[in-house]
Amino acid sequence: MTGGAGYIGSNTALQLLDAGYDVVVVDNLSRGHRESVDPARLREVDLLDTEGLVKVMNEAPCEAVIHFAAYIAVGESMKIPEVYFLNNVAGSLSLLTAMVRTGIRKLVFSSTAAVYGMPERVPIVETERYAPVSAYGESKVMVEKLLHWFDQIHGLRSICLRYFNAAGADPAGRTGECHEPETHLIPLLFKAIRTGIPVTLFGDDYPTADGTCIRDYVHVTDLARAHILAVEALAAGAPSAKYNAGTGHGFSVREVLKAVEDVAGRPVPYEIGPRREGDPPLLVADSGRLQTELGWNPQYSSLRAIVETAWRWECRNG
Ligand code: UFG
Repeated sequence: MTGGAGYIGSNTALQLLDAGYDVVVVDNLSRGHRESVDPARLREVDLLDTEGLVKVMNEAPCEAVIHFAAYIAVGESMKIPEVYFLNNVAGSLSLLTAMVRTGIRKLVFSSTAAVYGMPERVPIVETERYAPVSAYGESKVMVEKLLHWFDQIHGLRSICLRYFNAAGADPAGRTGECHEPETHLIPLLFKAIRTGIPVTLFGDDYPTADGTCIRDYVHVTDLARAHILAVEALAAGAPSAKYNAGTGHGFSVREVLKAVEDVAGRPVPYEIGPRREGDPPLLVADSGRLQTELGWNPQYSSLRAIVETAWRWECRNG
């Protein structure tokens, strides 16, 4: 696994270990957290270091790679796209090269709803065309395209999971969300409660019922489960595929704020600011394909469970 020291990666590593799988984590710790990984499983290798990756793969031969490692901040990607294309695209190419050299031909890839940009039809189905509106989204499209050719030419099968809004924390409290700097809504709502400094809601004049943007929040534990199902499908011979990973239910920024207030039992100080560039009004997944083909059945993705687990994690670590 690459990026196993990050938010979704560390959750998935725990779930794989719980299920009895062996896991080796490759992470350069540039954004991840050392304390999120069992030191015995961690290999500090940069994705661009193809030789280093080959060495890890030869020392610990594996059935499949789950590739989480990437930079994820949409806004940052519009300031330093070169860093995003280097780390996300060239880094993935280096990983694929190492996999081909060591004969590992199954990959689960962390993709994103950002590949769709401002979709014309919602709920979004996987056949919606690529139309990213950020360098981050484009970097993920580019990797999805690389994967197509690696399958055609090298027989490297892959499953791309296009995440919608990953949120929540491990229900057992072992790991949760912690980005630096934090840009995601739920941790920022908590921060506003903690500090008393108002969080800015980015626009309340969208064409939605309450004027704020609607997103499809999916619990990180359910996302982690999707990776295990994807690895198992590839191991059973499934062909390459792309799946949306969301719940099919959207919540507005104001609804999320209200859920946070209910769970925390305290008001969230907030102010209304201008729209954030590149925010689509409505992003909701049709995840029917993931449910039907891989048997995915999200268990923790009610807004209440998402906010409760995240709040518990925040209280312990915030
Ligand atoms: N929001 C605010 N104030 C904030 C932060 C966020 O109002 O301080 C709003 C955003 O405008 C958006 C919603 O809360 O409407 C959710 O924003 P996030 O930043 O938490 O998440 P995004 O929907 O922007 O991004 C997520 C992933 C990205 C991915 C994208 C796909 O985090 O990695 O979905 O569109 F690219």
